[in-house]
Amino acid sequence: MNQFLLAIDQGTTSSRAIIFNQFGQIIGQGQQEFAQHFPEDGWVEHNPSDLWQTTLQVCKEALKDAGLNASDITSAGITNQRETTLLWDMETGKPVYSAIVWQDRRTSDYCQSLVEQGYSDKVQQKTGLLIDPYFSATKIRWMLHHVVGVKERAEQGKIAFGTVDSYLLWCLTDGQQHRTDATNAARTMIFNIHSQDWDQELIELLGIGTVKLPEVMDSSADFGVINEKWLGAEIPVQGIAGDQQAALFGQACFAPGMVKSTYGTGCFLILNTGDQVLKSEHKLLSTVAYRLDGQVTYALEGSIFVAGAAIQWLRDGLKLFSHASETESLAQQALNADTVYLVPAFTGLGAPYWDPDARGAMIGLTRDTSVSDIVSAGLRSVCYQTKDLVDAMAKDGAHFNSLRVDGGMVVNDLVVQFLSDLLGIAVERPKVTETTALGVAYLAGLKAGVYDSLEQISELWQAEHAFHPEMGHDSREKLYQGWRNAVHRVRTS
Ligand code: G3P
Repeated sequence: MNQFLLAIDQGTTSSRAIIFNQFGQIIGQGQQEFAQHFPEDGWVEHNPSDLWQTTLQVCKEALKDAGLNASDITSAGITNQRETTLLWDMETGKPVYSAIVWQDRRTSDYCQSLVEQGYSDKVQQKTGLLIDPYFSATKIRWMLHHVVGVKERAEQGKIAFGTVDSYLLWCLTDGQQHRTDATNAARTMIFNIHSQDWDQELIELLGIGTVKLPEVMDSSADFGVINEKWLGAEIPVQGIAGDQQAALFGQACFAPGMVKSTYGTGCFLILNTGDQVLKSEHKLLSTVAYRLDGQVTYALEGSIFVAGAAIQWLRDGLKLFSHASETESLAQQALNADTVYLVPAFTGLGAPYWDPDARGAMIGLTRDTSVSDIVSAGLRSVCYQTKDLVDAMAKDGAHFNSLRVDGGMVVNDLVVQFLSDLLGIAVERPKVTETTALGVAYLAGLKAGVYDSLEQISELWQAEHAFHPEMGHDSREKLYQGWRNAVHRVRTS
């Protein structure tokens, strides 16, 4: 008998819901984009109601697409854009402000002051993270200080904090559950990844102790039940994970040394480091890969803020094409692909530079630079940034000879081949590239008893195509040196 799992994937630019059967095959899906708000330079916000309403709509769409009712679903999971921060009033359920998105840089001066006061080592040692506006904690602090009345309501114990998973769980359970999982907690900069507890010392340092924090659970756990008023029947929520960790799970990277890279709005390279926290000396992050039955599997992560977002900018901002699928043939026509570079530092640079004040640039333009060259530079920027991460991991002692990729951009053969050429290793694309949703469906299915082991899930993973490097060493080095020079031009620190 078939069993069905509902995966809710609330991402940076769209909300999606996918229904899988127990074999990891897609049975139905729904997707809706929503507005991005940029109120000031470096600020990025989402309307919380957009996050919730699109989530609800796509769940209904997915059920309809699959020809199923909510009562046919065994279990549900939530995966989400990480770090994005919400505060809401627990009495009214209303968010006190917009969701401050992970890309938002408004707290960069405050972060810099923490660095100057010498807190970097303490923060890295406890949380595995570097002090940066990317993470939730300084966004919470900003709301407490800048949104009228919130500080006072928090002092009365009425204000809840949550990342997007936690907020959606609150809404889906009609205010019954205020919970998150360890992978999302690990992105806040106030969660101790060794003790697996909220860290009181850091909470006090940031002055955010009045806010109610969610209970931190395993990634596969009984989080609560979707109220029947939303989809027509109750569904247990039994999986939660940040989207990048969910993708690692969906790629079945369960053994230490296995690595995946996901190309969504940003790009995130995550290496499974087993039960060891590998402390990076090259500005990568140590984080939680997943937590099952109280056992933590750790990861080393390189985070790049702009990958697919660069293609979205070329499409919607510059209007160079109308659909992302056109980029492959456009890039094939590029005559100056090797000399035009786009550094998409629209919201600063993430790993391994961590330069929040850097901004983007296009380098190497000549009179005959064409649209194709610019599109090619946009696609290649994603590969060059991946190489920055792989090199940083190598300097930290982590070497690997194959990489699993997923996310919207990897349907583009040209990109994946160039990635393999540049990295000089095999790059494997799985049959199901919706690994983020798949990963959280697996987490929910594990708790629901649809799966009984990680081995069983590993057996479901299948490669669709493996790309092998075809470029010589000298060409690779020359191209990459050009990228390094281009990045050097935009850096501020
Ligand atoms: O850390 C941010 C990340 O979780 C966002 O993922 O898929 O929306 O680019 P995505």
